[in-house]
Amino acid sequence: MQIVFLCSEYEGLLKTGGLADATRGLAQALRQQGHQVTIMLPRYGALYTKQLQEQWQSVYVDLNGQSIGAAIRHLRHEDIDILLLEHHDFFNRPRPYDDGEHAYADNALRFGFFCKAALAYLADHSDQTQPVIIHGHDWQAALGAIYLKQLQLQGKLKNSRFVLSIHNAAYQQGLSWHDLPMLGLAGDEVPQQVPLSMLSIGVFNASQLNTVSEGYREELLSEPAANGLSALYQARQADFSGILNGCDYSRWDPATDHSLSSHYHAANLTGKALCKAQLRQQLDLAQSKDPLFVAVSRVTSQKGFSFLIPSLAQWLPQVKAQVVMMGTGEQQYIGPLKHLQQQFPEKFRFIEGFDDDFSHLLEAAGDFFLMPSLFEPCGLNQIYSLRYGTLPIVRATGGLKDTVVGLGKRGATGISFDQPSEADLTAALQQAIALYADQRKYKTMQQRAMQQVFSWDQAVIRYQSLYQKAFTK
Ligand code: ADP
Ligand code: GLC
Repeated sequence: MQIVFLCSEYEGLLKTGGLADATRGLAQALRQQGHQVTIMLPRYGALYTKQLQEQWQSVYVDLNGQSIGAAIRHLRHEDIDILLLEHHDFFNRPRPYDDGEHAYADNALRFGFFCKAALAYLADHSDQTQPVIIHGHDWQAALGAIYLKQLQLQGKLKNSRFVLSIHNAAYQQGLSWHDLPMLGLAGDEVPQQVPLSMLSIGVFNASQLNTVSEGYREELLSEPAANGLSALYQARQADFSGILNGCDYSRWDPATDHSLSSHYHAANLTGKALCKAQLRQQLDLAQSKDPLFVAVSRVTSQKGFSFLIPSLAQWLPQVKAQVVMMGTGEQQYIGPLKHLQQQFPEKFRFIEGFDDDFSHLLEAAGDFFLMPSLFEPCGLNQIYSLRYGTLPIVRATGGLKDTVVGLGKRGATGISFDQPSEADLTAALQQAIALYADQRKYKTMQQRAMQQVFSWDQAVIRYQSLYQKAFTK
């Protein structure tokens, strides 16, 4: 099949979170199954590569009452064709979605333009007799669904179908009815009974939809998880799948991980102890026998910081443990995290930053990985943690519930708690301390965790069916 991804992040080119891991992981797995995959991505100022080919093609679309042009630049990256859509004013900014504090005011127009220009380019430059799946990811690509329909009414891209993957339904990019003319959309092209947003327009118009776990799909059929769109998800239920993300074990395996200086596997964990010692030395933490809790996370309310911070403040004085967290995000949590470090310099470190290599070291060094999310569409860090033998502590929600078996259940691989509350999380932390004290039991669970496999190949089988289903409509 020919598959074109419209996406706003791609590992190795631009990443703010798991969306980048997912688009690259899925693209590579599809390619390995023999499909022809092309990635379309904005050419951001912050793109990690500068190695673009000299040639470019131009494309013009009418939007916001004017004709706006983009250059399409080609890049070959890990045997995949990447088409970067260049528009200096829209995309040559230091960060993709916001200025560090506030979302850019013109995000609807920026990503509406990205979708419309990408579709116009495909209409002009692809062999229109061939069936093509246009696979959009999240709200940034969602308007591709309606722009494809508009082109099809003009007789173009008749053999293409649009599939939308929802990696996070909390981000919708809300619109007002006044925005529709700016985006070249009419009232009958958008859903009527639910909040108007880029995401809701995509959900309304895509041939097929999916989200990134079965558990989260179930949650989206009702409120509050659906953020006002439950009626729309219900209306599209027959075309809406839940497909768990995979893990790219060529990047996330402690036996081969390029970011680590010591390697290990289930039969020999010496390297894991060396990683832990390295991390402690680097952060000037004592080389003690106490358990080490780690976290790598976007610092947003999604990730449970509203109860994680008070829980740690209450729990840390009472325990012998160390906690190391890295993340970037909302100041309302970053301030209190820095304060925790001042209060407990021997037990707590917060590293404000985004560092790929360091995130691998944290995964390898920890005994437990903290992921107490309020909601989690899939979550990749708990999947990485399983492979690294760093038992995940998760709230039982969305993809976390689908991938981690909680302590007390048959085949337990981590610790799971139900309510997003300080009390439930603190109880889970206490369970972790007790488990770690029983090293025989801890090691049995760790071995089991390390055997778990969440491969992209399993996901690809489901995506192939989704693509085929899109053509039956
Ligand atoms: P989400 O996409 O909601 O942020 P996921 O668990 O799906 O959550 O994926 C997060 C990805 O982003 C992981 O690959 C994680 O290692 C990475 N990540 C998050 N914060 C940082 C950071 N501060 N530095 C490096 N990597 C990070
Ligand atoms: C989103 C979700 C996360 C998911 C990732 C990749 O960022 O928050 O749960 O793993 O997308 O699908």
